[in-house]
Amino acid sequence: MDWGMKNRLSRIIKPDTGRTVMLAVDHGYFLGPTTGLEDAKSTIKPLAPYADALMLTRGLLRTSVEPSVELPIVLRVSGGASILKELSNEGIVASMEEAIRLNAAAVATSIFVGGEYEKRSLMNLSKLVDAGERYGIPVLGVTAVGKDMGRDARYLSLACRIAAELGAHFVKTYFCEGFETIVSSCPVPVVVAGGKKLPEREALQLAYNAVHQGASGVDMGRNIFQSEAPVAMIRAVRALVHENASVDEAYKLFNKLKEESPKRRPKLQEAAASFD
Ligand code: R5P
Repeated sequence: MDWGMKNRLSRIIKPDTGRTVMLAVDHGYFLGPTTGLEDAKSTIKPLAPYADALMLTRGLLRTSVEPSVELPIVLRVSGGASILKELSNEGIVASMEEAIRLNAAAVATSIFVGGEYEKRSLMNLSKLVDAGERYGIPVLGVTAVGKDMGRDARYLSLACRIAAELGAHFVKTYFCEGFETIVSSCPVPVVVAGGKKLPEREALQLAYNAVHQGASGVDMGRNIFQSEAPVAMIRAVRALVHENASVDEAYKLFNKLKEESPKRRPKLQEAAASFD
């Protein structure tokens, strides 16, 4: 791995803890105006100071994030499918040159192992890795998105390992029983998605379990921006990930900060169909 690639990765996965708190707000690329992201600009602004990286599409980046923002951007560059049709039928929708123009620290694409367009998604990843290697841009392989995808350790190990073998520099997957076997058989860092909204304490427990079973942090979306107090929640997640707080300590922090944090605005509309 060359210097530029290492430098970009170390802006995302912090060298002092070996972990990251990525804020995922890319859901709209196939879900439309997901609950909590209807007015993405207002959602992202107060959360950005507490995230180590922001994962989103170029459209949301241009329209909803100030260019003066300091945190690294993980640019979602796959798309072309919606929740209404076959999710695995994705292509690469933004070039590596565009990612560089947008000053992305990394790019992300989904793979759909076992999905109808499995091969297409694996070729998307492979080609993206070729382009990323050319310019020193790391690639995040995202596994198992979609309600029909398996979420057990056997399946997720398969998907994460394939992503790493095809050259992904880091991988995002879901937490499940036996998570440590996914991490131990994946030669690149694994970050965990939060999945569908859970009560805050359960979401903190999930993040705790993931990092204590080897995850290099979280790439969490709905469990932060759909929380009743999103800023309190991301700060509690940070305490777990970077300060080795226990679940009790993090939950206590959440409850304390909740009193002084902005509350999430009432739903403008119900969420698009969940992909969990
Ligand atoms: C899915 O393709 C997206 O990358 C989401 O950003 C991802 O699932 C993480 O978000 P959540 O924590 O809401 O699952």
